Amino acid sequence: MVFLELIEKKRDGGELSAAEIDGMIGMYIDGDIADYQMSSFLMAVMWRGLTNTETATLTQSMAESGARFDLSNLPGPKVDKHSTGGVGDKVSLLLAPLAATCGCIVPMVSGRSLGHTGGTLDKLESIPGFQVDLGHDEFRKQLEAIGVAMGAQTKKMVPADRKLYELRSLTGTIAETGLITASILSKKIAEGTESLVLDVKMGSGAFMQSLEDARQLADRLHQIAILSGLRCSILITEMDQPLGCTVGNSLEVREAIAVLSGDTERSTDLKELTLELTAEMLVLSGRSEAHSHGLHLAREAIESGKALERFGELIEAQGGNPRIIDNIGLLPQSPHTTVVTAPSEGWIMCLDARLIGDAAVALGAGRLVRSDSLDPAAGIELHAKCGHWINRDEPWATLYHGPGADVRRATTKLSAALSISPEKPAAIQLVKERRP
Ligand code: URA
Repeated sequence: MVFLELIEKKRDGGELSAAEIDGMIGMYIDGDIADYQMSSFLMAVMWRGLTNTETATLTQSMAESGARFDLSNLPGPKVDKHSTGGVGDKVSLLLAPLAATCGCIVPMVSGRSLGHTGGTLDKLESIPGFQVDLGHDEFRKQLEAIGVAMGAQTKKMVPADRKLYELRSLTGTIAETGLITASILSKKIAEGTESLVLDVKMGSGAFMQSLEDARQLADRLHQIAILSGLRCSILITEMDQPLGCTVGNSLEVREAIAVLSGDTERSTDLKELTLELTAEMLVLSGRSEAHSHGLHLAREAIESGKALERFGELIEAQGGNPRIIDNIGLLPQSPHTTVVTAPSEGWIMCLDARLIGDAAVALGAGRLVRSDSLDPAAGIELHAKCGHWINRDEPWATLYHGPGADVRRATTKLSAALSISPEKPAAIQLVKERRP
């Protein structure tokens, strides 16, 4: 196969055959296609798109590019949740132990932060001792013992996505529906889940900025998941402001523990979304007959303290210090804080998630390129959210940072993120749409 011909075919709007896609993935992971040629192909895909048939083949081909976890003879329904990426999105930290408490087996393979969006692995690694690199046998044994494991994609798992995602993040070729679909679903197929709940984010802090783009991605994900043999349901959810009241790794772990402990005063949106997504998992996996019953079971698991207990078991099983649950002072702490105040009084209209995510990166809580190192304690705490009244000079955010942080850049981004209005804004609808 001459790869140049495939680049030209896609550039001119053609549809690649299954053999061409399989051949391309095989050659790329064998090192027989140079990154400059693959970048050119990806850019052609950005312009021309992928058909459903091409996306389904690419998904399967990527899933089969490496090792797959076989969980088929574990008793119990295997169900996972994946979000397309946002700011302050720590739902997985709460939902994985919560769904396991409700009887699901949750094999969660997650990613790292990139750009303004956070990553579950970085949040987990801010827990002292927590290991995310689990082998197949460890992953399986943990699922057998406590029903939940949260790890990184192993080196052998979906190597095609590992290589392609890295290249896409450096070449402006992330935000294409077919590529995102194949990237997400290939990893979910390889981790061995049977059912999948997807949280497609839309808004300033998401890859998909408009409802129309989010719908397109949700529909594509749903169609290809079903074609790939997964049971799937999808929520399109709001990501114009950060989720919850913290952005930054150990700060987000702290907030997750607070919500699982019943303290939801400043995290109502986080709790609501966690319950909604968990209820979807319970219905999809057959643990619950109706969404309302799923919500009830999930609420009970929080109120009884069982979900928090399971989070402690998860931390301990993966080498972390479970005492953080009773003593959040054991999490990494920043040596410095800077308070940001409101320039005028009024209703908070907008807290732009993208700009707040950028501010968190400037503080060291995220990375611009994969090789950047992180400060696990760095981040931002929001004292008010959209729809709240704020007085002039009232603190609305606190920055947590170490000596290497670019505090000036972070405060500039934060000031630009805040809009205040004399009119009270309409209430935000967290869940916009559902599939199916
Ligand atoms: N998350 C992924 O895993 N892949 C993408 O392409 C985008 C978001």
